[in-house]
Order: sequence, then structure tokens, then C-alpha cells
Amino acid sequence: MTDFDLELKQITKIYPGGTLAVEAFDLQVEKGEFLSFVGPSGCGKTTTLRMIAGLEDITSGELYIRGVNNTHIKAEQRPTATIFQNYAIYPHMTVRQNIEFGLKIRKLSGSEIRQKTSNIIDLLDLGSVADARETSLSGGQRQRVALARGLVTEPEILLLDEPLGALDANLRRAIQDELKLLQKQLNITFVFVTHAQSEALGMGDRIVVMNSGRVEQIGASEDIYFNPQTPFVARFIGKNLLFEGAITSASGKIGAIKTPNGQFKGRLIGNAANNASGLMVVPSEYISFGKTSKKDVNTVKGNVELANFISNTVIIYLRLANGERTKIETHVAKLDGQDLNTGSELNCYWDFNKSSIMLSESNG
Ligand SMILES: Nc1ncnc2c1ncn2[C@@H]1O[C@H](COP(=O)(O)OP(=O)(O)OP(=O)(O)O)[C@@H](O)[C@H]1O
Ligand SMILES: [Mg+2]
Repeated sequence: MTDFDLELKQITKIYPGGTLAVEAFDLQVEKGEFLSFVGPSGCGKTTTLRMIAGLEDITSGELYIRGVNNTHIKAEQRPTATIFQNYAIYPHMTVRQNIEFGLKIRKLSGSEIRQKTSNIIDLLDLGSVADARETSLSGGQRQRVALARGLVTEPEILLLDEPLGALDANLRRAIQDELKLLQKQLNITFVFVTHAQSEALGMGDRIVVMNSGRVEQIGASEDIYFNPQTPFVARFIGKNLLFEGAITSASGKIGAIKTPNGQFKGRLIGNAANNASGLMVVPSEYISFGKTSKKDVNTVKGNVELANFISNTVIIYLRLANGERTKIETHVAKLDGQDLNTGSELNCYWDFNKSSIMLSESNG
């Protein structure tokens, strides 16, 4: 049997006040995976990370690290390191002393401490500021010091809780790439928490989408983006068009749904059942424009309210037959020959098998 680097079995957290923060969380992570946790504020991301780190008691369930039950192991005895959003760099210490600190606590020998610290300073290109103090560092340098402190202890698993939240957009982009390269180079398992969906999708080998203390979906970026399995994921991730209605056929692979904007067909997801309230989900990327005689496509038309050109991307707000407004984000080249002036009629179509039909939230 191969052991996972990290395994959560039905992990649940109820805070002393009674808040159910995380419920029956199951997760298996392979060595060297980069995992992103994403979800709205309060959905339990930090709580989960803190339980993995040992900073928060686990109410029920079990936590395994490399096959060893860590459920009741103290934080300092776990092979994990944590980097928080407001990484506290000790102001009275130099960069080098900050990095050495975790090794001193672990009572390594002086020569080991020097060796490991120098290696990590080289790796993260902090040589020029090794003797500086926090106040003279840039945002990106501070971020790298925080990373160095986490990495110098050679954790099996590095836990990062919105570590880039304090950085401006350009620096954030640059450090995202650095971080991902570093992770591949060191082959350390990363669990990275963010509430920015683009960051989660861009960084993670796999993405865990959380909602109200529960896992909604776990999968690779493309999977989460193009094949959402729940209404929550369809609304939270990606650029999906959504049509609510009643499911009228739910046998076989392709089902049907009747909506105020027409009858559509699509792949059936999960427990989609006849007569239930349903949701048709279509990624914007799969929409084509104009009239078509193709078979096995859904069609819908509307009137352009606004077409907003942002370099090669166009965002179209379309007023549909029933008065609902929908938003389509597409590539400018796909709109060749279409009249996008306000008020003009725009025809849209997409393949049955590029869209999906799932139970909507209103089934309770
Ligand atoms: N120490 C605590 N005591 C009681 N309740 C808490 C505590 N910490 C968090 N909670 C509650 O647990 C739930 C999950 O919180 P958590 O901090 O894990 O969310 P999060 O996903 O990290 O949110 P954010 O994106 O805002 O950081 C919330 O309802 C929160 O109010
Ligand atoms: Mg949090």
C-alpha cells in the first residue's frame, strides 16, 4: 500500500461556541502535489489548514501524514510548516537570524544551522539583504523571508494561508510563478489557501473548492473550470452561463431541461432527475455566435445591451427572451461578422455535450 503524503479522513471542526466550521472533510494528497483551497470568506479554509498544522484541535476524524496518524500530535512535532498572510518577521532580528530561528528552536548544531540557512538564502536570492532588518525590505523580499523561514526547516508539507494577499497585483503575479517553480524544484507538498479563483486555478495541480465547511469539488483546474459538478462551483468558478428550469428528461447521458429561455439538452451531472428543478451550465468559452444549421446544438438569442472590448476579450451583456440578463465573456475573433451595437439581436449556440444539466439548489 502506498501512503499519501497527507490524508484527511472525515475531519470535522466544531468550535467551542458551537460553530460547525469544517464538516466531514476527506482528502488525499500525493507527495509533491500543489493543492489550492478556494472558497468564500468563512467557508473553513483557515480552520482546515490550522488542523493540518496542529494549531487547532480536530473535533472528529483522523489526519495522516505519510501514513502516520497525526490527529493528536502536537504542532511542533508535525513535519509541516505554515506561512500566514500577515507573516510576522521579527523586527529585532536580521533576515538571517529570522531564518535561523526555527532551526535554533529545533536545537540543530551551529554548523548545521549555518549550512541550511545559507542554502535557503541562496535559493531565495536573499543574499543582498541577509543582514538587513524588516523595515528596510520590500514587500517581495518580506514574502521571500517568510518563505525561507518556512522552507528552512525542510517540512514535508508547507501550508500557506493567503500568503500573497498583501502584495500588489504585479508583484503577486511574479511571486506566484516563483513559488510554483520553487515548489516543483523542492518537490515539497504545498497546501495553498486563497479566495482568488484565478490564483487557485493558476497555482494548483488540483483545486479543492469549499463552501460552508464542506468540500464541493476536488479536481484539476480544467476539470473545475469546464466541468463543475455542483451549482455552487458553477457560480463561483469560471465564466458560465446559467439557465434555471425543470428537468424534462434524465435518462442516458444526455438529458433535457425546459427553461423560460428555451428547451436545452446537455450532459447529466450527479443525481439530475426528471421533474426536479435543474440548472443548465455552459462555459462562455463554448459559445459560438450567429445562425447555425448544425445538429446537436442548443440555441438561444437575445439583444445586446453592452459589448465591452477589453483588448482581445469581449464581455457581452445580453437581454434574453424572458427579460433576464446574461453575461458572456469571449474572444474577439469569435464575434467576426456579428453586429454588437446596443439593441441588435445576437444568436448563440453550443454543443449539447459542452453543457451540463444538474440539480439546482432549490431542490433543498
Ligand atoms: N477561533 C474561532 N472560534 C470560533 N469560531 C471560529 C474561530 N475561527 C473561525 N471561526 C468560524 O469558523 C468558520 C470558518 O472560519 P475560517 O477562518 O476557517 O474561514 P476561511 O475560509 O479561512 O475565511 P477567510 O477567507 O475569511 O479567511 C467561520 O464561520 C468563522 O467565523
Ligand atoms: Mg482564512
